[in-house]
Amino acid sequence: MTKIDKIKKEFQDKVQGSKIYELAKRDRHENLKKEKVDVAIPEQRTSTDAQHISTQTIKESELKIKAQFITTISDDRGEEVKYAGIPLSKLIEDKKGIGDIIGLLWLKKKLPRYASKFIELIIETVADHGPCVSGAHNAIVAARAGKDLVSSVASGLLTIGPRFGGAIDEAGRYFKWGKDSGLSPEGFVNEMKKKRMLIPGIGHKIKTSKNPDKRVVLLINYAKKNFPKTEYLNYVHKVEKITTSRKDTLILNIDGCVGVLLVDMLKSLGFTDEEITERLNAGLLNAFFVLGRTIGIIGHVIDQKLLKSSLYRTPYEDVLYDLPDKSEL
Ligand code: ACO
Repeated sequence: MTKIDKIKKEFQDKVQGSKIYELAKRDRHENLKKEKVDVAIPEQRTSTDAQHISTQTIKESELKIKAQFITTISDDRGEEVKYAGIPLSKLIEDKKGIGDIIGLLWLKKKLPRYASKFIELIIETVADHGPCVSGAHNAIVAARAGKDLVSSVASGLLTIGPRFGGAIDEAGRYFKWGKDSGLSPEGFVNEMKKKRMLIPGIGHKIKTSKNPDKRVVLLINYAKKNFPKTEYLNYVHKVEKITTSRKDTLILNIDGCVGVLLVDMLKSLGFTDEEITERLNAGLLNAFFVLGRTIGIIGHVIDQKLLKSSLYRTPYEDVLYDLPDKSEL
């Protein structure tokens, strides 16, 4: 049971049969549902509970009912902010890095060094990929149109999707599904074919098995050396052998590599299959690319501002004008 589920269960148990149950029931639609606090209050009051609930418990329940939302990440009340319960000054004193902070805020775990370092490695690896890729290109065009930093960065980030940096969750999900369902690597490739789907995380425009993406090699080498286990990566390597035997460009790409290694990392950190799936569905894995690439996109926007670049216009020769004939209209 996840922590959030525990809070919901505790809330549900306390409310059931208490004096405030009727109030909660009455306000359920107006309050809880409106606030998107998905707490199911049982329709039937149990006979025993009401007398046993202390005033303190009722107060707590009332507080929770009144809360606009639940948070489980950070707390800014008191002297200083706490990340997953740890005061910021303590983290700085302990010389914790950005990987550790992400561990606390995204995974709510104190990460072992191999994991926090791996997170940092992903961020460093995906931070930028030149001005021509979708994200940087869009941001540069927006900056040259005179848009401010936030708007230009947002326009770059909005290109992240299934064909550009946003296939990480899908890759993690499908590779995990293949292995967990006991499919052989051949079976997995065939199942994806039956689904008429390209395998997320496989394929590259220009790189091949003989000319691999250096970023992928770097991350894999790190994981092999430092992770307790790389069971999903080992499975995907066998899948890759099959796909590259069909076409040399069908290699494990950066999205696939980050996706499968993050699944291996979450597994090693003790997350259950259910918890990993919940996080995949929430978009956690793509978030690592979003965070990392934001660094590069900010760089491109500032660069254009300092260069005082003028408005960008795509040259006519870069466009094939293929309008319909009058007769086709
Ligand atoms: N799984 C199975 N077969 C594939 C895959 C795949 N992931 N990708 C391409 N193919 C096949 C195609 O069906 C096609 O087969 P055909 O020649 O029999 O028709 C052949 O390989 C060539 O396909 P193209 O679409 O021409 O490949 P392209 O080089 O244009 O596409 C791309 C590269 C976009 C990465 C593609 O492989 C893909 O969509 N992969 C899945 C999504 C993904 O991983 N996206 C993240 C990319 S991260 C990065 O590129 C750095």
